[in-house]
Amino acid sequence: MIIADHLVSTCARTARPVLDFDLAEQLADRYGTPLLVVSRSKLIETYWAMKNALPGVDLYYAAKSNPDQHILSTLCAENAFVDICSYGELRAALDSGFTPDRMLHTHPCKTVSNLMECYQAGVRWFVLDNVHEAQRIAHYTPDVKLLLRLAVSASSSVINLSAKFGASIDEAISVLEESRSLGLDIRGFSFHVGSQCLDPEDYRHVLRAVRQLWDQAVSKGFELEVLDIGGGFPAPYRESAPTIESFGQTVSQGLQESFGDLGIRMIAEPGRGLSAECTTLITRVIGKNVRSGQPWYYIDDGIYGSFSGIHFDHASFPLLYRNQGNREIGACVVAGPTCDSGDIVSRDQMLPSLEIDELLLVPTMGAYAGASASPFNGLPVANSVCID
Ligand SMILES: Cc1ncc(COP(=O)(O)O)c(C=O)c1O
Repeated sequence: MIIADHLVSTCARTARPVLDFDLAEQLADRYGTPLLVVSRSKLIETYWAMKNALPGVDLYYAAKSNPDQHILSTLCAENAFVDICSYGELRAALDSGFTPDRMLHTHPCKTVSNLMECYQAGVRWFVLDNVHEAQRIAHYTPDVKLLLRLAVSASSSVINLSAKFGASIDEAISVLEESRSLGLDIRGFSFHVGSQCLDPEDYRHVLRAVRQLWDQAVSKGFELEVLDIGGGFPAPYRESAPTIESFGQTVSQGLQESFGDLGIRMIAEPGRGLSAECTTLITRVIGKNVRSGQPWYYIDDGIYGSFSGIHFDHASFPLLYRNQGNREIGACVVAGPTCDSGDIVSRDQMLPSLEIDELLLVPTMGAYAGASASPFNGLPVANSVCID
């Protein structure tokens, strides 16, 4: 991950665990490992840092990044909104206290059952990006309010979220017009600059282009009232990330420059920017060996579990060990617990000689980690507990 030179000074955020090794030992004894530890106070701190950095923007937490009840209920208590994509996410949000009027359904390609179940539960705001989806919505749920998702280009993001969804700016007016001819009510635009965006200037460029489109749509009689700037706020992994304050300030300036004169509702759908840092994984060394002269350590969580983000999210997680004695540090391989040879957590982190049963802490495990874990090989996914 390369960070632009002009951002280096703002990259003051490094990955930090939400607990120390003493507490980790106690929790591991009590609940077992692997264990995802959620810090409510860290989540609240992050939520308010982002709220303050984006004045006037309502935050719809992207539940897909982590639908854990501890996270959803904490954000609900702070009066956040929630972005859902399925009935499963809707249920998780309802169970955590969110009401349907605080939800936005952002999946641009919904099955009929997904659409109907969420509609019947009371959700009224949905997203679409093409005419086929418009026809489905017009047939089953014609009275909903809609945002048109746009495909945008953002060079600094690790994950391109316009490759699969989003109408191009060029085709947007024709999708709007066809949707209107079907009787649909499109109220605004949404976009996503891509996940783990490293340069907030990307938002400014996109916002300028979206404003031109907005004006064109208004001149054609569309009554637009909502701009949704998606997710994208980055989190620190092995690489540092810009602070929420500095990143948000640039995004906020972009919003003011391009949309400040309109008095419209502005919303965002942050996932990892809210959920990543509040969770630390406790994992245990369950075996060791020397293979071809190199130390190997086997731990009780791997790429089929909480480290699924290595594949699905291109994330690289730091492995933290307890500083004790004068242990020499060296190159090693850290592997997960399944029988798959591809279940490798790290080949390039320098660690001391680890003992079987020793604990490791892995910070920034709150987004796209436990959420995409599977019980492959019959090994259970990590439990989660909430502290403070
Ligand atoms: C539609 C939509 N909104 C929000 C998000 C959350 O993005 P991020 O985690 O980058 O904030 C995603 C991530 O995939 C998404 O697809």
